Amino acid sequence: MSQSFKENQAPDYSFSNEKRQGVYEAIALRRDIRSFLPNPIPDEKLGRILEAANMAPSVGFMQPWDFIIVKDFDTRNKLHAHVDSERRHAADGFEGKRKESYSSLKLEGILDAPVNILVTCDPSRFGPSVIGRNTIRETDVFSAVCAVQNLWLAARAEGIGVGWVSILKNEFLRHIFHIPAHIIPVAYLCVGYTEDFDDTPLLQKIGWLPKRELDETIHSEEWGKKPAAG
Ligand SMILES: Cc1cc2nc3c(=O)[nH]c(=O)nc-3n(C[C@H](O)[C@H](O)[C@H](O)COP(=O)(O)O)c2cc1C
Repeated sequence: MSQSFKENQAPDYSFSNEKRQGVYEAIALRRDIRSFLPNPIPDEKLGRILEAANMAPSVGFMQPWDFIIVKDFDTRNKLHAHVDSERRHAADGFEGKRKESYSSLKLEGILDAPVNILVTCDPSRFGPSVIGRNTIRETDVFSAVCAVQNLWLAARAEGIGVGWVSILKNEFLRHIFHIPAHIIPVAYLCVGYTEDFDDTPLLQKIGWLPKRELDETIHSEEWGKKPAAG
């Protein structure tokens, strides 16, 4: 894969315009989806989405993730009841209009989505010594989250919506799915076709929080120092 390049000219491994646009579109048009259609996801499609997740980067190449595919309605019903109760507790953390607004939001599609996927992290995968994990222990969980993001983007490219549900207790997930104590549940995802992928994140649209613009996020050389204009 060597490529000759002239002085001062970096090798160009960039994708064609069309392919590049596809990548940026998947990123920009990915949404957290909370309402799903009952249509089943074809196995090949789901397979491709999971293959994408399984290609994620991971600390020391430990690939700590596993995916529990959940379709059983009774199981999803139990999960839904648990999330509903946690959500009611969470509502107590807000007051007045904010509480009303929170309570009116649909924050999961556990029952409408035909497939739910639990992404887990096994910190013990391939033994205790992992290249790169010595100092920052959480890098194994970070790696599992990279798999979630790959899955989310691939699903968008396939026209499949994904919604992350985090209003739940890990002990409950461990209990329901018979997960060994050392395995960490990382992300509970609802997956399926949807009526609509909005251009704008829901919480931005309803004015819950503003979108931070890129220039607000950039610091130059040190924390708090803004780059010169332009
Ligand atoms: C770690 C994590 C947990 C989340 N948990 C929930 C959740 O429990 N319910 C929900 O409706 N959205 C959840 N979301 C989705 C966010 O609200 C959403 O990503 C954010 O508002 C931006 O919208 P977008 O994903 O459509 O761009 C979660 C997202 C992340 C990354």
